[in-house]
Amino acid sequence: MIVKKIHENIGVSIEGIDLSNLDDSSFQKIKKLWLEHLVIIFPNQNISDEDHIKFGKRFGDLEVHPSLSHRSSKNPEIYRVSNVDENGDIIPNKETSWQYLKQSWLWHTDSSFRKIPSNGSILHGISTTNEGGNTLFANMYKAYEDLDQSLKNKIKNLKVIHDHDYIISLSNELSKRKNKGHYDKLDPVVHPLVRRHPSTKKPSLFLSPHTMVNIKDYDNKKGRELLDQLIDHATQPHYVYKHSWNNHDIVMWDNRCTMHSVEPFDNNNIKRIMHRVTLVGDLEPIMA
Ligand code: OGA
Ligand code: MN
Repeated sequence: MIVKKIHENIGVSIEGIDLSNLDDSSFQKIKKLWLEHLVIIFPNQNISDEDHIKFGKRFGDLEVHPSLSHRSSKNPEIYRVSNVDENGDIIPNKETSWQYLKQSWLWHTDSSFRKIPSNGSILHGISTTNEGGNTLFANMYKAYEDLDQSLKNKIKNLKVIHDHDYIISLSNELSKRKNKGHYDKLDPVVHPLVRRHPSTKKPSLFLSPHTMVNIKDYDNKKGRELLDQLIDHATQPHYVYKHSWNNHDIVMWDNRCTMHSVEPFDNNNIKRIMHRVTLVGDLEPIMA
């Protein structure tokens, strides 16, 4: 196993292994590196969806995404993060399913709309592009650690309302449509703004701009300003690794201490096909 750092603050790449055929000691090493470095890049893993699912299940149960139209028809645990339909055709820009997916261009944390958000995500780049379409990952431990003490004190006990429907409200297109797509019903949830990772015990900022409606029991305008200030802080380049994809990279990240976004690309002309499995969370976020 060859492990290399890819950024001063976040991420390693691991080569010399086959994720479809992984012995237990290698799996344990990966798990440890994942907790330590937050993001892992596995280049050159041309594996089937079934092997992708099998690898994901070694960490526990897998989520089924609330958006019906993005589930793979063969394997519902596969979330198709693609601008291409299952026939291989580019989805027209105005289609509801693309407009929903396009919200991943905003900074977010996967499944922050759930009462128990996801532990992590594993994304297989099947058809990738470097003309845009890079994925950015921010280290939310480090972003928290660097806040000055007065700001840490100010945000310590705050809670944030997260709502799946907020994703849709942020889309100019979807917000004005009657049919906004088909999703499992999800009620708004409340999460701490500063959370403690259950395994590493370290505190981090828990931000997910696409689901954060506002701070609970707080002035709306001041809440928005505070959240925006924290988002600007956490997305500075020294906290962020930008991944330029090669086909069959698999990227795995910890949703309990990172957030991510996708750079825009020419979705009308470039096919970008990505398949994700999402690790079911084991407990509600712990206030730090
Ligand atoms: C995701 C996502 C990343 C990407 O899979 O969770 O937000 O690179 N997309 O498409
Ligand atoms: Mn995502």
